[in-house]
Amino acid sequence: MASGNGVMTDQADRQKQAVAVAAAALVENGMVVGLGTGSTAAYMIEVLGQRWAEGLRFVGIPTSERSAEQARALGIELVTFATHPVIDLAIDGADEVERGTLDLIKGLGGALFREKIVAAAAKRFVVVADASKLVDHLGTRTAVPVEVTPFGWERTAYQIEALGATTVPRRDRTGSFFVTDGGNYILDSNFGVMDDPPRVARELREVVGVVESGFFIGRTSEVLIAGADGVTRMVR
Ligand code: 5RP
Repeated sequence: MASGNGVMTDQADRQKQAVAVAAAALVENGMVVGLGTGSTAAYMIEVLGQRWAEGLRFVGIPTSERSAEQARALGIELVTFATHPVIDLAIDGADEVERGTLDLIKGLGGALFREKIVAAAAKRFVVVADASKLVDHLGTRTAVPVEVTPFGWERTAYQIEALGATTVPRRDRTGSFFVTDGGNYILDSNFGVMDDPPRVARELREVVGVVESGFFIGRTSEVLIAGADGVTRMVR
C-alpha cells in the first residue's frame, strides 16, 4: 500500500494527467504551439505525441532543452522563431496561480526565461496546473525564481535583497550552481506573501544583472485547473 505521500503524489499525478489531456485537446492542425516545461507540461507533450501518431500535424516551439528532447523523441516537428515568430497557442505549467488575476510565479523547473519569451509570443497562453497551485496572493507557497547573469551574481543578489527579499542561489544535485539553458544562474528570491506583485516585478526588472523573473503578470489567457472534481477552466 502506498504511503501517505505516495497517495498524495498519485492523486497529483492523476490531476496533472487530466489537465494535460484537456490542454492537448486545444491543439489543432496547422497550429504553431509553445511547449512548456515541467511535469504537467511533460504529460501534455506526451499526449500531443499520441495525437501526432494519430495524424495531427502542428509545429512546436519548446521552452527548454528538456521539452525539446521529449518532443523530438515523440516525432513532433520543432521550429524556431526565425521562421515562426508568432505562436498560436502556448501551454505551460505554473508554480503559483493567483485566483483573482491569474498572474503566475513560474520557474521552479528553471526554464522561466524561455517560457516567458514563448508566452509573450503567444496569441493564447493556457496554463495547466493541479489545484494545489491556486493561491489568493502570489508568494504564498514559493519564492520567486530570478534568472541572473553569472558575472556579478553576488551584487545582483544584494540588490534583490535591498528590495525586501531573501535570496538563495539555486544548486544542482552535486551542489554546483544550477545553470539554465541560457547559461545563467537562478536566485530563488523570497518576498513572502505579496500584496502588489506587479510592483515587485517592475522593481526586479530595474536591477542590473537580472535577466528575467518568474513573475508572469497579465500574460495568462486562461488556466485549466485539475481538482478532485475534474478540470475547471478559469478565464481572465
Ligand atoms: C518550469 C516551470 C514549470 O512550469 C513549473 O515549475 C510547474 O512545474 P510542474 O508542472 O512540474 O509542477 O515554470 O520552469
